[in-house]
Amino acid sequence: MPIPIKSGAEIDAMRLAGRLASEVLDLLTPVIRPGVTTREIDRIAHEHMVQVQHTVPATLGYAPPGYPAYPASLCTSVNEVVCHGIPDERPLKNGDIVNVDVTVIKDGWHGDNSRMYIVGEASIAARRLVQVTYEAMWKGIVKVRPGARLGDIGHAIQSFAEAAGFSIVREFCGHGVGARFHEEPQVLHYGRPGTLDELVPGMIFTIEPMINAGRRDIKEDRRGNRPYDGWTIVTRDRSLSAQWEHSVLVTDSGYEVLTVSAGSPPPPAFASAGYGTAQPALTAVTA
Ligand code: MF3
Ligand code: CO
Ligand code: CO
Repeated sequence: MPIPIKSGAEIDAMRLAGRLASEVLDLLTPVIRPGVTTREIDRIAHEHMVQVQHTVPATLGYAPPGYPAYPASLCTSVNEVVCHGIPDERPLKNGDIVNVDVTVIKDGWHGDNSRMYIVGEASIAARRLVQVTYEAMWKGIVKVRPGARLGDIGHAIQSFAEAAGFSIVREFCGHGVGARFHEEPQVLHYGRPGTLDELVPGMIFTIEPMINAGRRDIKEDRRGNRPYDGWTIVTRDRSLSAQWEHSVLVTDSGYEVLTVSAGSPPPPAFASAGYGTAQPALTAVTA
């Protein structure tokens, strides 16, 4: 299957889906505090998606081959959980770091994004992992332009994260996104410059590095001898893991981040230069 190229009207639809996905994360910013359960986070987001946005939570009932149907409207991955954590009755506590990953479907088009939230006051080490992972995502984003290759993105992320002393999870990657939740291409968060597919205007894919404070190895979550839930992935050494995700369009001149809204964290300084011209979707955020 070739990599889908979106038309102008399809890109407009993806801009809307992307903004709505980001607005769900905005809504959660004041909610995520010590004592709130991840199930309550899921409930608040679900109601906003369904009743206010009239979007469909893409994860609810999502069942790729080999997986049970995912039972919630977002993923909450706390501390050593790498990805796909299922919301439950456990309250967040001071010092936790949590990734919330939201994918909405609007008019048949998917917007996929995630952010890290720091619960109360976290350790310097936890905050540094969150910050480095954010900058690593952006090191990949700024490589996006026609003629660049997917390997350029992966290399930029990997070299930045490893220079900071962290490791890149290999088993999960970014992905094309559009009328389907996950489509071609696969976007690896490691690799070699000048390799893999060449980027073409109209491609849309996610960049969503998972970065571990310790070793890169992962395992299924069997903490507490519970039966495996079919989804939750943790670091093998139980070190902290962080992740950020944007959905990104390849434009004629570079990139446009689609998952932006009023509450989006500002891009790092190295990505801000030239914003006003190349980044219409982000101009509103920085203006
Ligand atoms: N949103 C995740 C991604 O970035 C996928 C979650 S699938 C789920 O690709 F079923 F776990 F929710
Ligand atoms: Co994704
Ligand atoms: Co996601």
